[in-house]
Amino acid sequence: MSEKRKTKEYTEVSEAQIAVHWKEEEYFRPAKKFIEQANARDPDIRKRFAIENFPDCFREYADLLTWSEPYKKVLDTGKPPFWKWFVGGKLNACYNCVDRHLGQYRNKAAFIFVAEPEEEPPLALTYQELYVRVSEMAALLRDFCGLKAGDRVTLHLPMTPELPITMLACARLGVIHSQVFAGFSGQACGARIQDSGSHVLISMDAYWRAGKLLDHKVNADIAVQTAEEMNQHVDKVLIWQRFAGKYSSPTPMVQGRDFFVNDVLKKYRDQRVEPVPMDAEAPLFLMYTSGSTGKPKGCQHRTGGYLAYVAGTSKYIQDIHPTDTYWCMADIGWITGHSYIVYGPLAIAATSVMYEGVPTHPDAGRPWRIAERLDVNIFHTSPTAIRALRRAGPEEPSKYHYHFKHMTTVGEPIEPEAWRWYYNEVGKREAVIVDTWWQTENGGFLCSTLPALDPMKPGSAGPPVPGIYPVIYDEDGKEVTAGSGQAGNMCIRNPWPGIMQTIWGDPERFVNGYYKRYCKNPNSKDWRDWPYMAGDGAMQSADGYFRILGRIDDVINVAGHRLGTKEIENACLTVADVAEAAVVPVTDEIKGRMPEIYVALKPGHEGTPDTINRIIKANEEIIGRFARPKHVYVVPDMPKTRSGKIMRRVLASISNRRDVGDVTTLANPAVVEDIRKMVQGKDAVVSGEAVPEDIAKFGQND
Ligand code: WT7
Repeated sequence: MSEKRKTKEYTEVSEAQIAVHWKEEEYFRPAKKFIEQANARDPDIRKRFAIENFPDCFREYADLLTWSEPYKKVLDTGKPPFWKWFVGGKLNACYNCVDRHLGQYRNKAAFIFVAEPEEEPPLALTYQELYVRVSEMAALLRDFCGLKAGDRVTLHLPMTPELPITMLACARLGVIHSQVFAGFSGQACGARIQDSGSHVLISMDAYWRAGKLLDHKVNADIAVQTAEEMNQHVDKVLIWQRFAGKYSSPTPMVQGRDFFVNDVLKKYRDQRVEPVPMDAEAPLFLMYTSGSTGKPKGCQHRTGGYLAYVAGTSKYIQDIHPTDTYWCMADIGWITGHSYIVYGPLAIAATSVMYEGVPTHPDAGRPWRIAERLDVNIFHTSPTAIRALRRAGPEEPSKYHYHFKHMTTVGEPIEPEAWRWYYNEVGKREAVIVDTWWQTENGGFLCSTLPALDPMKPGSAGPPVPGIYPVIYDEDGKEVTAGSGQAGNMCIRNPWPGIMQTIWGDPERFVNGYYKRYCKNPNSKDWRDWPYMAGDGAMQSADGYFRILGRIDDVINVAGHRLGTKEIENACLTVADVAEAAVVPVTDEIKGRMPEIYVALKPGHEGTPDTINRIIKANEEIIGRFARPKHVYVVPDMPKTRSGKIMRRVLASISNRRDVGDVTTLANPAVVEDIRKMVQGKDAVVSGEAVPEDIAKFGQND
């Protein structure tokens, strides 16, 4: 790394050297009423999870589960960094989330489904009903599809109860599910089918989004075709119906390949399938996420460690009790939904609300009407949703009679301004807030205050959660100390049960991407030599709280979802006229960051509105609608170094109204001013605001 830095033409201060000037915010304290009922109100929890007690402290999380065979060893570090958790133990994730609650909670709602159209009444699915439906679906997967433990199945399902039913049915058999967010395009789904080696795709005909019943079946056809083109054959496509018994898509079914789940299920009515005891280390699911190369990474999560970790953090950080009504307003298609709508809450017998649609549909009062009607008392969402709801209806929460005891924010850094609105207006100054920092790779929360024990500090994720020991390293592997005002690379010193096992089919990428940079000794079998590198910039205040500053790699966090710049650039390059493409992040009032695209066209081509539309369309088709860029600029040439590298850092400065710095040593310095004028207008518009850390550093490694 330091070698790379030396050879750079434009040496910038490293992230560790950038002193981050931000005001220390005042603490907020949890309400007494909250503390009295909290699952974690004994400060001894920190002693129990002290580093001297590692890894045995995590027995406490494993004990929240029911094991069909007890584990023999908590942590096996024999093959770093491929840690093994709860070695020798056997359990079934579906049994732990469903069957074992039947005795006490048979008639309690496991899920309450809220459809987007407000006239469709909420639907409560009891644990008993969930058990029946999961069991029937498991019978179908086993006997109709021939699926068995270890096989992969791709799901491309929207936010309806059929999604967790299908996931749990897979888990019941030990089948590895790979749910792809429904907002991903058919092509993106197809690439994930190929990577995971799935022969079965499970999708739905249609779903409601922003007032429209979207045709989703069409994406299944594109996905299968894309996978076929990549030499992955899909034998069966199972289509759930948004309205059972009625087909809501204009796209025809393909005879012999496509089947309506509701039709086939009739054959399995009332069938009971025994949960298959799985090795603690058996993979439970894959969750794809973007990285800095174009190819998405299939994060492979294990059964025992993952389930124990999400159960423990749901109990202590989310503070869920079986009597609570808990609503995580995320999509199950992302890791937040897997861990904190389905597996974590169900493992501890919660009632988990799932909402199909857009938070601001039909108006910004919708979430608060849902909360009031269902008497939700724990609420979980993202800064993007908070900003959008605040902008569209700052006074809306006060119009409704709901009371939250606890609220979560996740996915991006939250501005103290937005935090205070969340606290004062949404939480009505009664609810405690946890700002939870973690990643798809991590399984569950890594930093967050313990809600009854630690004061909150707006804009700060807080201390690490029990059993997690972070460290911030500078470029040279030196520790950046708390209170130094310096930023560096956020790392975790120790393994934990929720960490992914590997990247599906690419163990090297797992080692190189997360462990190589700060590994102290590649031959060591001691976990202390293998810190995990998260890829985020961070700083630690004197009080030990961590402030996450954003990605340090070429990943853009759009509304809490990762997009790889390479993925977007590759999509642009599929448009025939495009010679070169560069993507940079720009700040956005609602989404935090958005991609902005610069393209140079092949000789003889002109940048017409049609060109721009085709570029946008290519992104929507190859990645998905949520990847829509904020702007597309057709430029005469890209700013380049003499060795021909595109200077994304210069483009990012122009897009974000920052000073471009010294560009005189570029191969084509004059083009910078042309581009600047095109983007900002004739007069230089340089914002005086502090530069967000991730944007200041963007493209520095180019
Ligand atoms: C990236 C992970 C796992 C949650 C959903 C996103 C950013 C996540 C926070 C937070 C500041 C946050 C980081 C991280 N991030 N939570 N509370 N404060 N930043 O999962 O798509 O894997 O993205 O989201 O940059 O690396 P993801």
